[in-house]
Amino acid sequence: MKLLITGGAGFIGSNFIHYILKKYPDYQIINLDALTYAGNLENLKDIENDSRYKFVKGDICDKALVNNLVKDVDVIVNFAAESHVDRSILDAENFIRTNVLGTYNLLETAKNNGNKRFHHISTDEVFGHLEPNDPPFNESTPYSPRSPYSASKASSDHLVRAYFNTYKLPITISNCSNNYGPYMFPEKLIPLFITNLMEGRKVPVYGDGMNVRDWLYVEDHCEAIDSIIQKGKIGETYCIGGNSEKPNIEITKKIIELMGKSEDSIEYVKDRPGHDRRYAIDFSKIKNELGWEPKVSFEEGLRKTIDWYKTNESWWKNIKSGDYQKYYEQNYSNR
Ligand code: NAD
Ligand code: DAU
Repeated sequence: MKLLITGGAGFIGSNFIHYILKKYPDYQIINLDALTYAGNLENLKDIENDSRYKFVKGDICDKALVNNLVKDVDVIVNFAAESHVDRSILDAENFIRTNVLGTYNLLETAKNNGNKRFHHISTDEVFGHLEPNDPPFNESTPYSPRSPYSASKASSDHLVRAYFNTYKLPITISNCSNNYGPYMFPEKLIPLFITNLMEGRKVPVYGDGMNVRDWLYVEDHCEAIDSIIQKGKIGETYCIGGNSEKPNIEITKKIIELMGKSEDSIEYVKDRPGHDRRYAIDFSKIKNELGWEPKVSFEEGLRKTIDWYKTNESWWKNIKSGDYQKYYEQNYSNR
C-alpha cells in the first residue's frame, strides 16, 4: 500500500508516519508538507533515509504537484491544515486557503485520478461547544462551528461528504478531540505549559480556567485513523475521543505537580474571544464497529509527554527561540 500523507511534518502527521512505518514493513509513504511555521523535518529525522519514505516540500493547493503525486498512490490521508485557534482569530486567511481550498484541490485530484481512497482528518470543534450537562458530541450532532478555524474545518468536512455523495469518491472522515504527546508545537496548551515551566516562566490560563477539553494521547489517535483506513465503511464519519474530559486549570495543576513546580506559576490572562466552553466525544460508533478505544490513560500520557519534552529540549528550544518567539511577543505581549 502506498499512502500520500499531507501535513506529515506537523504534530499528528509525523506521529502517524512513525506509527505506520513501524506497524507495516511493506507500506510506502509520500509526505507532502509545505513546511509552514508548524511543519518541522526534525520530527522525521530518524526515518529520513528509510527507503519506504519520501518527503516532498509543497502546498496542497498546488494542482500540478498534487496531481503528480496522487497518480501514484492508493490512499490519501489529509492532515495538512492550519490548526491553531488563536492564530485563526488573529488572521483567518491561511485557514481558508489551506483548510478549504487545499482540501478541495485534494478532492478534485483524487476524483480525477480514478477516485482514490481519501481519509480526512477533522476535529470535534466543528460541532460547536457544550454546556456542562449536555451529552457528548457524536456523528449525528449538527455542525455549529464558532471560530474561524473550526468554520474552515467544517467547510472542508462538507466538501469531503459532497464528493462522496456526488462523485462516489471513497471517503471517510474522523472528528477527533484534543491530542497531546511528542512533537506537539509549543503554542498549544500542554506543550506550552510544560516548556514554560522548564524555562521558569509563568503559564497563561485563559479566562477562569474552567473550559473543558477531552484529551487523547496522539498514538491512540494514530491507531484509530489506521483502523478507519483498514476497516472503516466508505462514506462514513467516525468520532474519536479520549474519555478524558478535564478543565484547563486541572490540567495546569497536574502538569505543575508532575514537574515539581509551584502553583505561583499560574497566571490568569484575558480570555480567548468566543472561547468554546466544553468539548466531549461519544466514541461508541468506532468502538462498536471497528473495535477501537483509547489505551493510554491521561496520567500515563501526560507523564510520557513531560518526559519527552525533558529529553528533547533542543527540539522545542529551537522553535521557541526562533521566529515563533517574535510572533508570540508581537501578538500576546498584552496577555
Ligand atoms: P500542525 O499544525 O502541527 O501541523 C500541520 C501541518 O500541515 C504542518 O506540518 C504544516 O506545515 C502543514 N501544512 C499547513 N498548510 C499546508 C499546505 N497548504 N500544504 C501542505 N502542508 C501544509 O497540526 P496538527 O495538530 O498535527 O493537526 C493535524 C490535523 O489534525 C489538522 O487537520 C487538525 O485540524 C486536526 N486535528 C488536530 C487536533 C489536535 O489536537 N492537534 C485534534 C483534532 C484534529
Ligand atoms: O478539539 C480539537 C482541537 O484541539 C484541534 O482541532 C485543534 O487543532 C487543536 O489546536 C486543539 O484546539 P484547542 O483550542 O482546544 O487547543 P489549545 O491547546 O489551543 O487550547 C486548549 C485549551 O486551553 C483551550 O480551552 C484554551 C486554553 N488555553 C490555551 C493556550 C494556548 C489556555 O488557557 N492558555 C493558553 O496559553
